Amino acid sequence: MDNAKELYLDLLKKALTFYLWEDRAAAKLLFEPQNPIKKAIFDRFLGYLKKRHMQLANFSEFDPEKRKNGLDWPLMADTMIGLKRLDNIQFCVESVIKDKIPGDLIETGVWRGGAIIFMRAILKAHGVTDRVVWAADSFEGLPAPDVEKYPADAGSRFHQFKVLQVTLESVKANIEKYGMLDDQVKFLKGWFTDTLPGAPIKNLAVLRLDGDMYESTMDGLINLYPKVSKGGFIIVDDYGIAECQKAIDDYRKQNSVNDTIVKIDASSVYWRRL
Ligand SMILES: C[S@@+](CC[C@H](N)C(=O)[O-])C[C@H]1O[C@@H](n2cnc3c(N)ncnc32)[C@H](O)[C@@H]1O
Repeated sequence: MDNAKELYLDLLKKALTFYLWEDRAAAKLLFEPQNPIKKAIFDRFLGYLKKRHMQLANFSEFDPEKRKNGLDWPLMADTMIGLKRLDNIQFCVESVIKDKIPGDLIETGVWRGGAIIFMRAILKAHGVTDRVVWAADSFEGLPAPDVEKYPADAGSRFHQFKVLQVTLESVKANIEKYGMLDDQVKFLKGWFTDTLPGAPIKNLAVLRLDGDMYESTMDGLINLYPKVSKGGFIIVDDYGIAECQKAIDDYRKQNSVNDTIVKIDASSVYWRRL
């Protein structure tokens, strides 16, 4: 690694994951109580702490191996996907640039926006001005499982985690911090089931799915997979989560997608559309 572009992107990965500062992990992240009385008390308590610049979490010490592999939920970092998955994003985006595969880049499920910042930074580092990075998210966390329609999501509790609810304003502020908020970053705010069918995207070179649930993964695939150019990439952050894996396997089977799945780390995979 000896040129400024590579050095910049390498440093950026370590900054986005807070690998440089030994960020701690919120080991057991809080989820909201479901009982309305308990929830009201809990919310008041969190409000009380917030006013006093305090946070409630069960911290664990920084573990570099976990942070490399996206295996902890960071307290401060702008992304939870870890260094290896950022390397994978770089590989996919630089491949489509090199091979002139047409299309934009999208992540469905952006949380604090770290992967979006990184995608935009790669385009900037390579002087690419004709591709957009799309950030699709509710910006209010995950949906409650729709068990009738998606029985695979029955056990999912992600919608209860407050830490997964990051507002659009705060994501924009994160992107701005890195100097990456411009008209090559566009937002699709709302549930995937509402925003993705009519999204004004012509074609995609990289589709990164990070919505954790069967429903969220399937909505991404049904609405966006047909837009992925031949030679483009599909990245699945949550293949290690059973319900996400089932959505991927079901979609591939139903649509006779046989392109080889490649492992990124213990949880994530990608394939190239051939
Ligand atoms: C695990 S986080 C994404 C992590 C992120 N890619 C990163 O770099 O750290 C999952 C995100 O998906 C969003 N999400 C999941 N399902 C969704 C849905 N059906 N509609 C809209 N947003 C959804 C949540 O709001 C959350 O921000």
